Amino acid sequence: MCGILGCVLANQSCNVAPELFEGAMFLQHRGQDAAGIVTCGQRGRLYQCKGNGMARDVFTQARMNNLVGNMGITHLRYPTAGSSAGSEAQPFYVNSPYGISMSHNGNLVNSADLRKYLDETVHRHINTDSDSELLLNIFAAELDKFNKSRVNNTDVFSALRETMTQIRGAYAVVAMIAGYGLIGFRDPNGIRPLLFGERENADGTIDYLIASESVVLKAQGYNKFRDIAPGEAVIIRKEYTAGQEPEFKQVVEPKIFTPDIFEYVYFARPDSVMDGVSVYRSRIEMGNKLATKIRKYFPNNDVLGEIDVVIPVPDTARTSALQCAVSLNVPYREGFVKNRYIGRTFIMPNQAERRSSVRRKLNAMESEFKGRNVLLVDDSIVRGTTSKEIVIMAREAGAKKVFFASCAPPIRYNHIYGIDLADTKALVGFNRTEKEIAETIGADEVFYQDLGDLEECCRGGPAEKFEVGVFTGEYVTGIEDNYIQELEKIRAQNQRIKDANKGLSVDSCIDASDMVDVKAEVDISIYNTGDYVAN
Ligand SMILES: *[C@@H]1O[C@H](CO)[C@@H](O)[C@H](O)[C@H]1NC(C)=O
Ligand SMILES: *[C@@H]1O[C@H](CO)[C@@H](O)[C@H](O)[C@H]1NC(C)=O
Ligand SMILES: *[C@@H]1O[C@H](CO)[C@@H](O)[C@H](O)[C@H]1NC(C)=O
Repeated sequence: MCGILGCVLANQSCNVAPELFEGAMFLQHRGQDAAGIVTCGQRGRLYQCKGNGMARDVFTQARMNNLVGNMGITHLRYPTAGSSAGSEAQPFYVNSPYGISMSHNGNLVNSADLRKYLDETVHRHINTDSDSELLLNIFAAELDKFNKSRVNNTDVFSALRETMTQIRGAYAVVAMIAGYGLIGFRDPNGIRPLLFGERENADGTIDYLIASESVVLKAQGYNKFRDIAPGEAVIIRKEYTAGQEPEFKQVVEPKIFTPDIFEYVYFARPDSVMDGVSVYRSRIEMGNKLATKIRKYFPNNDVLGEIDVVIPVPDTARTSALQCAVSLNVPYREGFVKNRYIGRTFIMPNQAERRSSVRRKLNAMESEFKGRNVLLVDDSIVRGTTSKEIVIMAREAGAKKVFFASCAPPIRYNHIYGIDLADTKALVGFNRTEKEIAETIGADEVFYQDLGDLEECCRGGPAEKFEVGVFTGEYVTGIEDNYIQELEKIRAQNQRIKDANKGLSVDSCIDASDMVDVKAEVDISIYNTGDYVAN
């Protein structure tokens, strides 16, 4: 999963980079692995800054000063199977035709075919394992077919149609054609989110912003906004005049509208509204439904005789846990306190790591656990290693019985659309019953949300269904026969690279928001610096 942004300011002499940086601050939770901005200035010149790490570390003041122009795009990368190498920070760029740069959120599932086509038929060099580079090159190859020195909107839309017919998977994209304009588009199932918004300036001119989550648009004053529809695209000209306002087009027929339900469970910020549904409200509903299920489990619905206190696993699950406690009429307590200031782990030679990453991040308060039967609530259970450690911590703090509730159903399959959870076999839900899962994580009982209930929690918008492949193994776009194996191969390869750099890599974390990495200073690439002459 990643965060993407694109912006065009009406004022040609105004630099868009500060706005993109501000926006990145609101999307940082979607990816802390790498960050990049590309802007487009006068005469179509592109300026780029990309690096590993958080946006605040990559985009220093000096680097920002070099990013000139009133149009630009941003990418915040979440590590996915093919993308952890430093060279693969986005936006990606191709010089032919016209100079195109692109930020992609999602994952393509027919990458093997695309790679072959690009190599054998259109002779384009692909330098990384990233499917985003494939997407960019497919689009570039389609635009190239017009064989024109300048394209127009009609050409761009039809190139997009051809591109979207060839690629399969999940994608929300912002792209830029140098000197021409900004493009945004979304896959025909609307799996990944994308919104478009406008902000009116004092002089009546209008700025445009495209972003992954509504929270960015709201925060920056783009109060008139909407979701881009599945299969829809928009073009915003860099130097637009009357009659050149953004043009929207349904470039391919929408397929069944199925946003990824994981955005609501875990990924999105609670203050975002995705495809018409408030993420916060959906999480409250998850707490309610979970409470109903738990109440039914105990004989005579006697919850109070069994559970003394509800304790959330911070942070995402807080909203649901509180509502679950209210609904069960059981006290809610913050039994775990999160350490907000953890950095890297430094392991000296000949010294084993003494504390697990969970214990570095969370601390259990004995006063809240001692002698009590506790219900721990988390957003989901992935590998189960974190849950297991948390259950042990609860028992060490004096808990009698430990029940563990998950706002999501058992995760039994790979996530293939951009949230790289783990290999199937590494999932605690893989080939285990709920009873076996409870045993594995050491809980007295686990309570999982039912899938139907979870879907119910996220309804209310235009989505017909949801992408729920991690729970069912049925993926909305279908997948190639050997796709999962390919994914696991690439993941294993990346793991070897990581292991080789052991001590430098970020350890696994409880939620994405506490991953801290300050690699940016040593691994940064900036092009075009010193190239710009102010005019
Ligand atoms: C592309 O356009 C140029 C000039 O307009 C022309 O000479 C060339 O033959 C065209 N190429 C193709 C493949 O159509
Ligand atoms: C774009 O150019 C083509 C010719 O190459 C033309 O047929 C089409 O009408 C043009 N579209 C616009 C919006 O100008
Ligand atoms: C699933 O578990 C059963 C018994 O626990 C085992 O016999 C079987 O081989 C497992 N299947 C896979 C695919 O690992």
